[in-house]
Amino acid sequence: MEVGAGERLQAVKVAEHHSDNVLKMTKQSKEENRAAYETPETKYTRSLAQMSASCDSRCVVLNTGARMPLVGLGTYKLRGSEQVHRAVDAALAAGYRAFDSAAVYSNEADLGRALKELMPKYCLTREDVFITSKLGPKDQGDRALEGALHSLSELDLGYIDLYLIHWPGTQGKVVDDKRNPGNRAQSWATLEDLHAQGKLKAIGVSNYTLAHMKELIQSCKVRPAVLQVEFHPQLCQTELRRVCAEYGVCFQAYSSLGQGDLLTDPVVLEVAKKCKRTPAQTLLRWAVQQGVPVLPKSSNPDRIKDNAELFDFSLTDNDMDTLSALDCEHRYCWDPSGVA
Ligand code: A2P
Repeated sequence: MEVGAGERLQAVKVAEHHSDNVLKMTKQSKEENRAAYETPETKYTRSLAQMSASCDSRCVVLNTGARMPLVGLGTYKLRGSEQVHRAVDAALAAGYRAFDSAAVYSNEADLGRALKELMPKYCLTREDVFITSKLGPKDQGDRALEGALHSLSELDLGYIDLYLIHWPGTQGKVVDDKRNPGNRAQSWATLEDLHAQGKLKAIGVSNYTLAHMKELIQSCKVRPAVLQVEFHPQLCQTELRRVCAEYGVCFQAYSSLGQGDLLTDPVVLEVAKKCKRTPAQTLLRWAVQQGVPVLPKSSNPDRIKDNAELFDFSLTDNDMDTLSALDCEHRYCWDPSGVA
C-alpha cells in the first residue's frame, strides 16, 4: 500500500532533522573537548557521525573525494546482453546511477554495452554513472594486471570508478595456503599503479575480514576507499564497521535481502507492515539509514524500481533496533574467515 503525502513529508522532515543534529553535533565537538573526553566508544560514534554528515540523502563521499550513490544495481545474476540491457534500462529509468559488476559475473561487456546504448536515452554522460567491478580470484597475484586490464577492456567505458579485489584468497589454492597474503599484496600494488594512472578512479576490497583489513591498512600506499561485504540485520558486522569508520573506508553492503530469504522473516514482515513498505524496502532502508550503501540485485523491472524507493520514508529508532536485534552472525553467502 502507498504511503500518503503527509506521511512522506513527515518522514523527510524526520530525516532532515536527524541530519541537522548530526551536523550540529559535529560542529560542537571542539578539538580540546575531544582530546579530554575521547574514549574508543566516543571516537567510534564521532567517526560514524562524520560519515553520516559526509553522505547526503543519495550519495556517500569516498576518501578519494568521489561521490558514490547509496543505491546501486547489483548485477550478480544478470546474464546475456538482452537481460542486462532490460535491467539497466529499468534501473536508469528508476534513477539508479551506480552499477556493480565483477569479472566473475561474466557480464562486464554486456553492462558496458548496455550503458553506452542507454545513457543517451536518459541524457546521461559517462561522468553521470558510477561503475564498480572486481578482480577475479583467478587473477589474484601476478595475473592482477592482466585481470584488471581485461575488466577495463570488457567494460570499455574509459575508466572504472571503483575496482575491488573480489576475494582475499586465490582461486585454485587451499584457503590456508601461505601464498594468499603475498598474492593479495601483489594485487593491491597493481591496483595502486592503475589508480595512479587514472584508469581505476578508486580502489578497494570485498569479502575481507578484520584480519585482512588490518594487514592491508598497515601495508598499503593507497588506503582502500571501500570494503564491500555481506551485511543485513542477521549479520551486522559491528567490528568491521568500526574499523572501516576509524580508517575512513566506506563500508558497503551486498546481499541486503539475504539472497531473498530475509524477505519472509516474520520480524522483517512486521516492521514492513508497520511502515507500509515492502520487506525489501525495509531491509534496504535499514542499511542506508545507517549511511551504508546497498546493491540490491534484481532482474525484474518492478522490483528494480521498488528497491530504489528508499528516500521518502524512515524507520523509527525502535524499528532500527528491532531489526538489528536479529543479528546472529548468519551468512547467506561465502565465509572468508578461513582465508590465510
Ligand atoms: P529477482 O531477480 O527475481 O528479483 P540479494 O541482493 O540479497 O542477494 O537478493 C537478491 C534476490 O532477491 C534475487 O533472487 C532477487 O530476485 C530477489 N529480489 C530482489 N529484489 C526483490 C524485491 N523487491 N522483492 C522480492 N524479491 C527481490
